Amino acid sequence: MLSSTPIRPGSRPRTLAAAALLGLLAVFFLPAGPADASAPLRQHAAARGKFIGTALATGPLSNETQYRNIAATEFNQITAENAMKWDATEPNQGQFNFSGADTIVNFATQNNQQVHGHTLVWHNQTPGWVQGLGATAMRSAMQNHISQVVGRYANNAAVVSWDVVNEVFEENGNLRSSFWYNTLGQSYIADAFRYARAADPDARLCINDYNVEGINAKSTAMYNLVRSLREQNVPVDCVGFQSHLAIQYGFPSDLRQNLERFAALGVQVRITEVDVRMQMPRSSSKDTTQANYYRDVIQACLAVNACAGVTIWGFTDRHSWVPDTFSGEGAALIYDENYQQKPSYTAVHNALDGGTPSDTTPPTTPGTPAASNVTGSSATLTWSASTDSGGSGLAGYNVYREQGTTDPQLGQSSTNSINLTGLSANTQYQVYVRARDGAGNLSSPSSAVTFTTTGGGGPSGPCTATGTVQTQWGNGYVIQPVTVTNSGSSAINGWTVTFTLPAGHSVTGSWNATLTTSGQTVTAKSMGYNGNLGPSASTSFGFQVSRPNGNTQTVSGYTCASP
Ligand code: XIL
Repeated sequence: MLSSTPIRPGSRPRTLAAAALLGLLAVFFLPAGPADASAPLRQHAAARGKFIGTALATGPLSNETQYRNIAATEFNQITAENAMKWDATEPNQGQFNFSGADTIVNFATQNNQQVHGHTLVWHNQTPGWVQGLGATAMRSAMQNHISQVVGRYANNAAVVSWDVVNEVFEENGNLRSSFWYNTLGQSYIADAFRYARAADPDARLCINDYNVEGINAKSTAMYNLVRSLREQNVPVDCVGFQSHLAIQYGFPSDLRQNLERFAALGVQVRITEVDVRMQMPRSSSKDTTQANYYRDVIQACLAVNACAGVTIWGFTDRHSWVPDTFSGEGAALIYDENYQQKPSYTAVHNALDGGTPSDTTPPTTPGTPAASNVTGSSATLTWSASTDSGGSGLAGYNVYREQGTTDPQLGQSSTNSINLTGLSANTQYQVYVRARDGAGNLSSPSSAVTFTTTGGGGPSGPCTATGTVQTQWGNGYVIQPVTVTNSGSSAINGWTVTFTLPAGHSVTGSWNATLTTSGQTVTAKSMGYNGNLGPSASTSFGFQVSRPNGNTQTVSGYTCASP
């Protein structure tokens, strides 16, 4: 029902809690402010004054957490896929079973979702006992069914609308020769609406059909019926366009125009069961086409004020009627069978979030990075910042090593500086930066900076160094020789050997190299006379160290770089 208070299936509103919950419902159903770009579908839909709904099946609803979570989070409208149909609610005459229907309605109530009741009078999923009745008995069975089912939820705040009659037309626009029509004649349609109005004066009452999305013989027959019923004061409030589409049959490009002609009759319109199937297997180009269909359906509804919203017939390919119904077809929904969002999800999302045009403008190119604090395994890079004008805003920077083929990313930073760690010692790096915006656009690469890490324990560069302990005593030792070898294929012009002193050790003398010490790190540079080494040539140097009395450690681990 559309109006005031209540909440629980079959009960009237009595409590303040019910009123408070109604306030919450209003928050979700009324137009709100602009929605966050990454918000769930329902938030964007609410911001546009529309619902975005899904059909739910009771099996996965009780068995699958992911199914429940997505259904609760993404949608603000629910239709029972099967649980409110006649064969579920009144399998035997006068014996009603609302267990599935209540499950759906309770779920919707808990999640501040509106429920569209589906469906009261249909030629499918209606038990044999109904189909075999004579005219008088059939009419009263229909009246009783409608009054029991609609009446049960008449005072339930979540249940706001009903499909009163479903699929009453043939493709050519004739009324379908169903058991309803064949037994009762055309009057069953008006009667059904009147019984529903009597059972819940506040519910929005709909006629629903498929292949009526475009302007064609069937939709024109529906248009004429709705106009004629309303002229006779039959309470038809709403027209549902199922929209079971297939990419191989094309998009009904006059959908919006068709919705508008119905709206001009004074009825609400809604997309009630959209799915977009394809011939299997899926492909990325089919996915793209499908996404465009979903986008166009959403945009048609957004463009028509009288369109209340869009219900997708399920949401995950894991649970879809399509493969069971259309041989060789499937993948019709917006999540795949593993609950991963498909391109069609993004299309629905972006169409609902249409207030913000998507950002395709990359940020400006960052400045050339400058390297500082270069060690054997780390370096600091700083560059002048980029700006972003595309709307999504500057999100940060990606830092890459230039390697000619695919350049590996060394790190990411949200500021115009980064401390790179885990670098290889004695290694030359050419590094450049690209800026990234909130939409994922990357700027052009900056110019590269080139730096070489120092020795420090990693694999060495174009030379190697190995040290030998020549002699040692209680509080000191001599390393002689440290053999430096050109391990490359071209001559080197100077070498630098780096090693680390154990704690408490200090250098007391050296020969054939110039040693400088910083903390425990010692850098030994070649002299003018022993720096030039051809490939495989060697030279050596030595040094003496003092250490705490009783300490037995010696220096080990030398790295060599050139120059
Ligand atoms: C389908 C359900 O999705 C299936 O699970 C069921 O087996 C058959 O009905 N038009 C309608 C829906 O109005 O009720 C139908 O739902 C799909 C076509």
